[in-house]
Amino acid sequence: MSTEEETSQISPSSSCSSLPPAFHFIGRKEDIVRAGRLTKLVNGCRDVLVLYHQGQLHAMDMRCYHSSGALQYGDIEEFNGQLCIVCPWHKYKITLAEGEGLYQAVDNPTAKPMRTHWCSKGVKQRIHKVTEVNGDVYVTLNDSTETIESDVYQTERYRAVILKAKTKPKPKN
Ligand code: FES
Repeated sequence: MSTEEETSQISPSSSCSSLPPAFHFIGRKEDIVRAGRLTKLVNGCRDVLVLYHQGQLHAMDMRCYHSSGALQYGDIEEFNGQLCIVCPWHKYKITLAEGEGLYQAVDNPTAKPMRTHWCSKGVKQRIHKVTEVNGDVYVTLNDSTETIESDVYQTERYRAVILKAKTKPKPKN
């Protein structure tokens, strides 16, 4: 694959086409509330996690920006006054509102007791817009042209790797 092809495959354009942003039907709100969260391939090109927490619906790229962890299995906790999903793989914290990566910085490693404070790495996970109309829930893909780290795990190439791994025959005993 040429460099140009690879670059185009990790393009941040998450609407997956040059069409204007569209509403993509996800499901009935009551079903999402009951399930708590669900994942869906949106517009044939983006794996999105939609979750319901404390009366709010949120949507984001399904795979963690760090190393493609399955965010649908992450706990939701509050850090520094911000609701975050905690990736089940390496416990990275991602804000639900903006997709920022949060971490705890140590003020002075030699001080006792050690003091820490929360910092942001900036936006790392692509967040999508959720709209509810008469109990139907829609996602509008975030088509910001700014590259966001979670884009890396939304390519056709990456999806093909995952599918190949899933369909690999298991060794016989
Ligand atoms: S893959 Fe999510 S924290 Fe590493």
